[in-house]
Amino acid sequence: MKTQKETNHWNPNTYNKHTAFVSQLALPVVDLLAPKKGEFILDAGCGEGTLAVEIERRSAKVIGVDTSTEMIEQCQAKGIEAYVGSVTELPYEEVFDAVFSNAMLHWVKDARTAVQNIAKALKCGGRFVCEFGGEGNVYHVISAMQKVLEAHPEFGTFENPWYFPSVETYTALLESEGFSVKQIELIPRPTPMDDIAHWLELFANSITTHFSKAQFETFKQECKDILRETNYSEEKGWMVDYVRIRVKAVKKY
Ligand code: BEZ
Repeated sequence: MKTQKETNHWNPNTYNKHTAFVSQLALPVVDLLAPKKGEFILDAGCGEGTLAVEIERRSAKVIGVDTSTEMIEQCQAKGIEAYVGSVTELPYEEVFDAVFSNAMLHWVKDARTAVQNIAKALKCGGRFVCEFGGEGNVYHVISAMQKVLEAHPEFGTFENPWYFPSVETYTALLESEGFSVKQIELIPRPTPMDDIAHWLELFANSITTHFSKAQFETFKQECKDILRETNYSEEKGWMVDYVRIRVKAVKKY
């Protein structure tokens, strides 16, 4: 499970400093998972393990998988059994009662392979509960990045590293891979961020990886100038225009 198919590199210390909200806001997804005593649950994209700990606190046994070695080390330090690996290359066959995933699947452009691997890892009747970016997610942030790149051809072209499906697209994908969809919805969730530039530093690195330091500063400042119109107010400060897709599906056969 070495190949990295997810489209970002993580520094857990910077990540945790600016994004503690990612796990805090996901408790309703753990409620939807409703872990039961003794269940065996895969946390796909477990990160540093906050939600895996929460699931184990509810008496299930969790295996965590994440592409980041640093995140896996932090997860293991919390007492979770966890391995470096990608949801597109899971080695598991019909072993889990449930697969859980929060804020990770939008990084996997090959969504069909991810769903196939999740289906393979589940027992028949097992459930797949996830939340990630859905249709319209970070719409304003993406359009600001596109505008800045268009204004600076020397920065290169914008290639969207994310998968933000509609309810219809993701339902069709799940059904075609043997799932029965029990619940699926888009949830707009504008989320405060101390500075939108921190979001760009954390999450846009596959877009900006080839930039010089000076180009990156220009990119951040110009995105910020554009986003001030749509994503900033005196009253609320910076808000990221998140839209989640929240899903519960059951493997039929
Ligand atoms: C999200 O959680 O929706 C997200 C995070 C980083 C980049 C894109 C989307």
